[in-house]
Amino acid sequence: MPPFDPPPGYDWSPSDDRTEKHSQDTHDAQVTMIIAIDGPAASGKGTIAKQVAGIYGLHHLDTGLIYRAVAKAVLDAGHSPDNVREAIDAAIALNPRKFEEAALKAQVITEAASVVAAIPEVRQALMNYQREFATRPPGAVLDGRDIGTVIAPGADVKLFVVATPEVRAARRTRELLARGEPADEQEVLADLLRRDERDSRRTAAPLKPAPDAHLLDTTHLGIDAAFRAAVDIIEAVRTGRKRG
Ligand code: DC
Repeated sequence: MPPFDPPPGYDWSPSDDRTEKHSQDTHDAQVTMIIAIDGPAASGKGTIAKQVAGIYGLHHLDTGLIYRAVAKAVLDAGHSPDNVREAIDAAIALNPRKFEEAALKAQVITEAASVVAAIPEVRQALMNYQREFATRPPGAVLDGRDIGTVIAPGADVKLFVVATPEVRAARRTRELLARGEPADEQEVLADLLRRDERDSRRTAAPLKPAPDAHLLDTTHLGIDAAFRAAVDIIEAVRTGRKRG
């Protein structure tokens, strides 16, 4: 599949110039497209990012996994996640190519990840890997909190995905129950709000939309509709119908 052009069946854009862009892209092995997808927990950004990467033939990085891996290393070594020295050492020693995704999604790690992510030196230690990942041809979709603002400020398209806290809590509760983890929706909501607050208020790369990010509210959208809305924005930017 050529990088960038969605496969048949996803061709709902009215654009003609996309075909032209496609033939240019496929003749230039160095060309990269970077799509930054930020937003709070359970906004739908991860699912959108994975699907968008799939149809455009791009690499995908869930950058939350990196902070989760640092948190897990700190906890596994018997330390508290607010032990700054241990968290920095764990970030420096991290091998980001080996993630056990299922283990990293556990609730205890979720909370700890938000704590280690607030430490500027931890973020600094993880920056190069994310930037290198983003620029590997043919390009990548990265999802997280600071992709459009810090990691890839020059990204071709930036999305900031939101949904109401109540809807996000309901989604996260369903996800946890499906994985066999106990979950109470009110507790999940309280956890989400606490994490949003910490992720948005920290001084190092806080959760916030880049000035040129396109807002996508998934509150009333299912997975398919959210994905289509994301691709509509991406196509509009690529074909010049929207500013990048
Ligand atoms: O997306 P997630 O829930 O897996 O992220 C876990 C934590 O990591 C989240 O609370 C904030 C932090 N994070 C971050 O600070 N920057 C990113 N780019 C991604 C995640």
